[in-house]
Formats: sequence, C-alpha cells, structure tokens
Amino acid sequence: MILDKYLSDTGRYVSENVNLAAGSPAWGLRAKKRAKEHSDFINATIGAATEDNGDLMSFPTLVEEIKKLTATQLFAYANMRGISDFVHAWKRDTLDTYPTNLKDKADRLSTLPVTSCGGLTGGLMLASQLFFNQNDPLLAPNTRWGNVDNVFFKNQRLREETYQLVDKEGNLAFCNLIENLKSLQTSEDKIGIYLNFPNNPSGISPTQEQVKEFQDALIEVNKPTVVIVDDAYEGYVYEEKALNHSIFPHLVGLNENVLPIKVDGPSKRFCAYGARLGMVTLGFGEETEDSKKSEVREMIAKIARTNTASSPRGIQEALTNVLTDPVKKQKIAQEKQSNLELMKKRYNLVKEYVESNENNVLHPVNFNSGFFSYFLLKTQQTATEISSKLLEQGLGTVPFVNQNNGLNGIRVAFCSINTEKITKALDILYSIK
Ligand SMILES: Cc1ncc(COP(=O)(O)O)c(C=O)c1O
Repeated sequence: MILDKYLSDTGRYVSENVNLAAGSPAWGLRAKKRAKEHSDFINATIGAATEDNGDLMSFPTLVEEIKKLTATQLFAYANMRGISDFVHAWKRDTLDTYPTNLKDKADRLSTLPVTSCGGLTGGLMLASQLFFNQNDPLLAPNTRWGNVDNVFFKNQRLREETYQLVDKEGNLAFCNLIENLKSLQTSEDKIGIYLNFPNNPSGISPTQEQVKEFQDALIEVNKPTVVIVDDAYEGYVYEEKALNHSIFPHLVGLNENVLPIKVDGPSKRFCAYGARLGMVTLGFGEETEDSKKSEVREMIAKIARTNTASSPRGIQEALTNVLTDPVKKQKIAQEKQSNLELMKKRYNLVKEYVESNENNVLHPVNFNSGFFSYFLLKTQQTATEISSKLLEQGLGTVPFVNQNNGLNGIRVAFCSINTEKITKALDILYSIK
C-alpha cells in the first residue's frame, strides 16, 4: 500500500476499508449522470430536501441572518463549548418540541449542548471517542446510514452487534434490540446502542407504545449502557401515532446505568447541511447536581477541543439571532411548517400509492417519517440488481445491501422528488419484475 511504512493502524484500516465512492455516493453519481443524459430521468437518491423546482429547501429567515453577519461574527473563533447564547437558545428550541410533561425533566436531567465541528457526524465521533474503546460492542440497526459504519466500525473499530429494527413484515420492532441487549449484558462490562429516528434509510419512527416497551427494557439494564440518539431528522414526522419529537426525553431518568446522548444539529433541522455544525447533549439516569452536569459538559468540551478546537461560528451567530428574537422565531417556525407540509404532501402521495398498488418484488415498510420511503424484497434478487434495473428504466434509487446482517432493501428519497413526478417515479418503481 502507498505510504505503508508511515501509516497509523487507523490510517491503514480506514484506507483499506472505506470506499468513498460506494453506497449512496456511487448511486447518486450514477443517477446524476443519467439525469444529465435524459431530461425525464427521476433522481430519488438525494438525501437532502429540495423544493419542487429543484432548489435546496431552506429557511429564508436564516438565510437573511447569514447575509447580515459581520466579519467578526463569521470569522472570529467561537467559544470551544459553543457560543453561550447559542447553546442556551438551541436547548430551548429543542425542549420546545417535547410534550409539556417531559420538558422539565429533560431540562433538569441533561447538560447544555456542546458544539461539535463537522455536523452530526462530528458529534457521533465525539460520543464514540468519549465512551468507547476499540472492540467495545455497539448495537446498531442493519437499516442505517452508511457513515455509521465509517465512524463507529471503521474509524473507531467498535465491534458491530446488529439488531433488526424493521421486521420481515416491514414494521418497526424493538424486540430484537431488546433480546440482543439482554444477551450482551451477560458477557459485556459496557454496551453501546445506536438509535436513529426517523430512521435513514427506512423512514420509520416508533409509536408511544413502542417507546414504552424499550423504556421497560432499559429500566432492567444492569450494565453501563450508552445510548447514542442520532436525531438528524427529528421533527419530520407525518403520522399522528408516530413519535413526533426525539426519543431522548423518554430515555433520561430511567436508570442510573443508562446514559443517553443526544446528537443533533441544524443540518436537516434548519436545512443547513453544509454549515457543518452539530450538538452533543448528555442525559442522566437520575437527578444530578448542576455542578456535576457542568463537569460532564466540560468532559465533552475537552474531547471536542482535542479534535477540532472549536466549531463554525457564523451559523451559531445567525441561529442565535433567529432563535432569540420572538418575531424571527415565529417566522422561522412558519417556514418550518410550510417545509414540513411540502414533505408531508409527497409522503402522502407515496403512502397512497403503495397502499393501493401491489408489486411482486417490492414490499414497502411502514415508513411514517423522515426523508425516505423504503422497500424490502420479496424475491431472491438483491437490492443492487433492482436499483440497476431501475436506473435503466429512468429512476435513481439507493440499494442497501449487507449480506452479513441481512440488509436488502431499496431507498427512495421522496424529499428530493418534485411532487408532480412522484406518481411517475412510483410507476417506474412498481413496474419492476
Ligand atoms: C441518520 C443520519 N445521521 C447523521 C447524518 C449526518 O449529518 P451531518 O451532515 O450533520 O453530519 C445523516 C446524513 O445524511 C444521517 O442520515
């Protein structure tokens, strides 16, 4: 290997095991190429929300604030924990999404967030560095975003323990996670769990009853258990029965052996993907003094400091201006609502179609949230074969395949399809044999 004698073990392992052109990026590129060649090609690979005219969905109030920033606001260093006004405003904005009966408890039983550089990805990395050693077990769903593997299993070299979040019928089920958690408790000193709702790629979120089932299992846990909550798509929920806020407030105060960590950020919440800002908030299993909370927050800040020193300042300044001004806050809430309505319109079209049509190859899971719809395979074919055929027929999709953990499904991103083209996209999808 090139530079072999210079490489660290991590450098060598990552270089040999990470393929930047595999998975979503590869299928995204193929679809983009097709779309250039054929004007009627529909690209359902893009995991960023777009308007019907193809522009990136955004929040005009935030864009305006970015434009008004001074050089100092943009380019001076930010406090290494995050700008103080910003982290307070972010926590308030997050708490406001929780049901009234959970707000107080979630506030009391969690730290102030610490900013992470590099978006939610940076936050996941901080959580991993702070709590896990190489080879520690991490329970992760087989339906997961590709970079989860890169961060936890390829860079940090945690041990992959898979759980099936989506059962064969396409329903969300916690039973396999709970079973595996119980089993690991008999052999491990510490356990990690990665949760992501709304889930990428399956578009699934739990109901209140399902959350309760998971809570009951966590109450029984007798080994230190770190639960990483990846809230990238929090709030994008379209069904009454699905949890429309983070699962995090349901996991604090359960058990002194359970440590929930909320990783969130403006990437999807405020359609600011390239701002590369994330937030890490630690929750506690029991009542905790303020001084201890501050101490824990300093620990997260130290890990952040030793990685990237501090985080982008401009987006923090702009969001502070929006979230601390009642008029702007109301405006951005309205923008959020109208963005959500567009997403819901597309979601409803997909839902109605898959509920009134049958296909011999594809079985839709019961997606209810997020940016994606997801289809299991009824036949022996692989998702890769199906996505290749679909590409030929005018639809770009992303196959999710992993023979080691039973993953085999197709992701169709309705977040970035023009509403008027959804039915045509699904006609192509359902024409597959
Ligand atoms: C589940 C999930 N978590 C995290 C991220 C990454 O977020 P960020 O761009 O803020 O690093 C993504 C991006 O697609 C995602 O799907």
